[in-house]
Amino acid sequence: MSNVFFVGCGPGDPELITIKAKKLIQKADVVVYSGSLIPLAILKLCKKGKLHDASRLVREEIFDILYKNAKKNKLVVRLHDGDPSIYGAIKEQMDNLLKKGISSIVVPGVTAFLASAAALGTQLTLPGITQTIIVTRAESRTKVPKREKISELAKHKATMIFYLSVHLLPDIVKESIAGGYKKSTPVVVVYRASWKDQKIVKGTLDDITKKVRDEKITKTAIVIISDVIDSNSYEYSKLYDKNFSHGYRKSLIK
Ligand SMILES: C[S@@+](CC[C@H](N)C(=O)[O-])C[C@H]1O[C@@H](n2cnc3c(N)ncnc32)[C@H](O)[C@@H]1O
Repeated sequence: MSNVFFVGCGPGDPELITIKAKKLIQKADVVVYSGSLIPLAILKLCKKGKLHDASRLVREEIFDILYKNAKKNKLVVRLHDGDPSIYGAIKEQMDNLLKKGISSIVVPGVTAFLASAAALGTQLTLPGITQTIIVTRAESRTKVPKREKISELAKHKATMIFYLSVHLLPDIVKESIAGGYKKSTPVVVVYRASWKDQKIVKGTLDDITKKVRDEKITKTAIVIISDVIDSNSYEYSKLYDKNFSHGYRKSLIK
């Protein structure tokens, strides 16, 4: 059984943490956490453990803390905001530990785009509009494969979600239009979803850049482009349709 846990602690609201994550943080001997996106209330759950802010450390230093403490049979928590599997750089950490014979366990968390959808009270897929969600990022220092260019992904007219990209909004807009979205397509930017200072900026591909600039949002935001936002032209779901039979219920229409 492993004593190293990669734990997601949700998007910011300290109540959006799993019971499993909370128990692990409370019991941990060592917690290495991902900087400012981890709320203080969650760090305070760590009563007896030593806290390390990973944003001040390089990969080798983080590895050293995880490895040395795991070797001493300490309970080690590597705490990530949101869900560890979404832009969380966990694989390199887990693989390096495994090379030294230490396996680890991942505990999921509520990722930022789901907290953003909740803040909007929106459904990300709607019958008659789209049944697909594309989660991606705009290219900056981290390269994105050519086949995943925004203009290519935009051709699907799915719900597009962007992490790590709000500062590149003009590029997102340009490429989305090049890919076939109308300028009137709804866009929402959710800044610090679920935190007390959360902001929601709504617009279209035509005006969102200016609106977000006016709000001075340059980081910690999710961009959502989709016709599902505020749509009133969708179809009702089949699941609850009286004409529809499925494994648990027969159609009411003979
Ligand atoms: C390195 S990624 C980590 C994502 C995280 N693992 C998750 O699942 O949410 C950081 C990016 O996540 C997004 N993000 C994280 N927390 C957020 C929040 N509360 N509201 C909006 N965006 C957030 C932003 O796009 C930010 O640039």
